[in-house]
Amino acid sequence: MNATTHTLPSDAHASLHEILARYDGTATNLLPILHDVQDVMGYIPADAVAEIARAVNLSRAEVHGVVTYYHHFRSEPAGKHIIQICRAEACQSMGAEALLAHAQQHLGCSVHGTTADGNFSLEPAYCLGLCASSPALSINEEVHARMTPEAFDALVAEVRSQA
Ligand code: FES
Repeated sequence: MNATTHTLPSDAHASLHEILARYDGTATNLLPILHDVQDVMGYIPADAVAEIARAVNLSRAEVHGVVTYYHHFRSEPAGKHIIQICRAEACQSMGAEALLAHAQQHLGCSVHGTTADGNFSLEPAYCLGLCASSPALSINEEVHARMTPEAFDALVAEVRSQA
């Protein structure tokens, strides 16, 4: 049995070591390290969690706890397109929760989930800067205002047709 076996591809492994080398081995660097890893890899692979934990002298469970606590971090690769639906106050008052429920049903995945075909990840956002034109969402960081379920379906269809 080899508890240190990792399955990170060698380029990802090299990137991880490059990131870890930028920081000293203290736990206060955990969040910047996680941000860097997700920026480079798109998510925080389980094998990276083990190495990060070693590097900052924390347990694997502690690092995993931080990854799962902050919704910004992903434990799985994201879909090709990222849809964020605003759940902040102005959007909530204009039907954001109903829009989110529709999006989950339409895509067949839950919040923080990815569609079975890997095309879309659905995430919450907490203000996209379009409060006066809520409810708002973004697809691949492009924001859309005054969203309705019908407009949502049309946007998803448009993105699918561009694939
Ligand atoms: S509250 Fe939704 S965009 Fe500001």
